Amino acid sequence: MENIMRNFFLFLSKNQMLTNMAKEHGLKFGAKRFVAGTTIEAAAKEIKRLNDAGLAVTVDYLGEFVHDSLEAAQSAKQSIEAMETLAELGLDAELSLKLTSLGLDISRELVMQHMRNILDKGKEHGINVTIDMEDYERCDKTLAIYKELRKEYDNVGTVLQAYLYRTLKDLQELNALDPYLRLVKGAYKESTEVAFPEKADVDENYRHLIKLNLLFGNYTAIATHDDAMIDYVKQLEQDHHLDRSQFEFQMLYGIRSDFQKRLVKEGYKVRVYVPYGEDWYGYNMRRLAERPANVLFVLKGLVKK
Ligand code: FDA
Repeated sequence: MENIMRNFFLFLSKNQMLTNMAKEHGLKFGAKRFVAGTTIEAAAKEIKRLNDAGLAVTVDYLGEFVHDSLEAAQSAKQSIEAMETLAELGLDAELSLKLTSLGLDISRELVMQHMRNILDKGKEHGINVTIDMEDYERCDKTLAIYKELRKEYDNVGTVLQAYLYRTLKDLQELNALDPYLRLVKGAYKESTEVAFPEKADVDENYRHLIKLNLLFGNYTAIATHDDAMIDYVKQLEQDHHLDRSQFEFQMLYGIRSDFQKRLVKEGYKVRVYVPYGEDWYGYNMRRLAERPANVLFVLKGLVKK
């Protein structure tokens, strides 16, 4: 049943008509739980609240699968303005973004131009930028762009997904670039030809990737809400005498907030991924797919309207 629900929400997450409708109607269907507002000003209030609780942030102007270059330019502009606001307010926040929001499906040159502008602004303000990983179809292109940018910039990182068979090889190849990597389990619907269908295999691969990247000596963001994975990292820390300055935990805004604070109290660096903007639909549907119990929040949202 859980699998059927998961597939259903992942199918819905890619529906263009519903995405467009959602943009016009503000944060609905429980989205307020996972999205910090539609503007950077609204998000900044939440970021301040999180910073005050000892949590660092990575902020994401929501948007994906853009096919119009004006929209891509608008998205790049929003990311640049967001960094200016973060710097002005002195917030402890980095930036995350999706290359399809900057026109990955339109042209590589367009994305490179937007990314260089964004990374230059980030450099000016000492802000790191992490390129989220999207679906398998875009993985090769995303990694190629990351590799090219990494040679020019110190403030760029990317994400690897443990559910893909290819990821171990990608991680080994990226090691030569002294990368900043966020490791995740993976959030998209992928075929069994490219991704492990069984959760146990994803978890095993995830552990393997975390250990390898940490032992390579690379900075590692372990982005998960899974107690078992966090305990695993704590064990690695002890067994291999890892310095806490080499890794951080990352979690999504609105998920396991108390747990985030508990880890901070234990002395770990925790970063919260804070999305904002009007294009919340696909992001929200993926969060529902991860945990169908979240549908209750949707139903509450519907009742409240
Ligand atoms: P898992 O799904 O096994 O869940 C473990 C436990 O965590 C659950 O039992 C539940 O208690 C809790 N939990 C998990 N998801 C929840 C939810 N939605 N609501 C409430 N509780 C939940 N993916 C991707 O493909 N590309 C990317 O760039 C990113 N970026 C990213 C950044 C950050 C900061 C995070 C935390 C995650 C991502 N992801 C991502 C998403 C990631 O791939 C994955 O889908 C989710 O993190 C859920 O997997 P977990 O590792 O939390 O474990």
